[in-house]
Amino acid sequence: MKNAAITGWGKCMPPAVLSNADLSTFLETDDEWIVSRTGMRERRISNVPAIEMASVAAARALACAGLAAQDVEMIVYGSCSNDEQVPNSASGVQMRLGAQRAAAMDINTACTSFLYGLSSAAAMVRTGAVRNAVVIGVELISPYMDWTNRGVAVLFGDGCAAVVLQATDEPGVGLLGEQLGCYADARQTLRVRGMGCTYANRGLTLGDTQWDFDGQEIFKRAVHGMGEAAAAVMAKCGVTPEQIDLVVPHQANLRIIEAVVKRAHIPMDKVMLTVQRYGNMSAATVPVALVEALEEGRVKPGALILMPGFGAGLTLCAHLVRWGDRVTPLGSSPAELPPLTKTALELVNEIRAIKAQAAERSGGALQAPKLAETLGTLP
Ligand code: UT7
Repeated sequence: MKNAAITGWGKCMPPAVLSNADLSTFLETDDEWIVSRTGMRERRISNVPAIEMASVAAARALACAGLAAQDVEMIVYGSCSNDEQVPNSASGVQMRLGAQRAAAMDINTACTSFLYGLSSAAAMVRTGAVRNAVVIGVELISPYMDWTNRGVAVLFGDGCAAVVLQATDEPGVGLLGEQLGCYADARQTLRVRGMGCTYANRGLTLGDTQWDFDGQEIFKRAVHGMGEAAAAVMAKCGVTPEQIDLVVPHQANLRIIEAVVKRAHIPMDKVMLTVQRYGNMSAATVPVALVEALEEGRVKPGALILMPGFGAGLTLCAHLVRWGDRVTPLGSSPAELPPLTKTALELVNEIRAIKAQAAERSGGALQAPKLAETLGTLP
């Protein structure tokens, strides 16, 4: 059987930076609280649709791998913030890349979508169903954030990165193994109300999204889930914590990451962190951190990389990758986002204004009584 090696990587970060100080212009919060509770100092806000970010990141990853778009056989789009429900998003990336021969599928396991996508694509590459795949982790959370809720609004940001997986005969290289799981008994602890078929055609608008978010319960489950998954995948692959060269974890909270690696008996100097600069980008956190680790020279040839993830569902996982010989790109892509004309705060204030108008139009419909109707139908 073939192995599935990562041969290309690329990110696309929106340039607009939203600082903690920006957030405190419209929320009762402050830099001290956000930094001490989460480690976050700033996050990015996108001025383009998610598919556009994804296409730029994918084009960069393909150039890095030296693979032409026409030769791509599979596109896996990992995200919980699709621009539209129908058609799927991966098809939009296929079209923008000009990758006409590629199959195209979306995966939504929330923050773990990139890693679940990596497992799916690697399995297809190993069996020979496809010879290569572009796996994307992308999130555009700012349009459906509840910007009136300081408990969640300070935590999330937009961003994207992609990798190219290719079949190789080289032994022991690529995705070595994974542990996947889900604490469905706690799925109600993280829910975005106002998106999905339950809400469609009921007079509820996207402007009315509300987040259920039990931060403390999610925190405990995240530490437990990622800790258990990391231990399980290391045991499966016969790897000890000392052999791990780099940890590229989901970046939901600096304190969660510290607790997970402590449980795994791995020191913090082996951990790639982006949470301070980008916050929680859900499915994009792990691939963006991986790309930045490569850019910073933190991935050495043959490195053993552990990637634990956790997200709504509550899905959990940990992946082990053995890097190949090449840690530098074969080429670069001219793909770019359009130039930025607004600050992140201006972009957020526009979203807030649209939501306020929508709420006014619907007369607060989501709050009552239509929301009450939908609540009973949700498990
Ligand atoms: O990727 C998906 C997975 N997501 C996660 O893993 C997130 C997991 N949870 C967390 O990271 C943490 O629980 C949070 C960062 C969300 C919250 O930290 P915490 O230490 O659990 O704080 P808390 O929720 O217990 O809130 C403490 C206090 C509360 O005030 P009182 O009740 O003590 O008066 C909150 O109202 O902090 C208040 N608070 C804030 N204060 C200032 C909550 N949000 C804010 C805020 N600014 N943004």
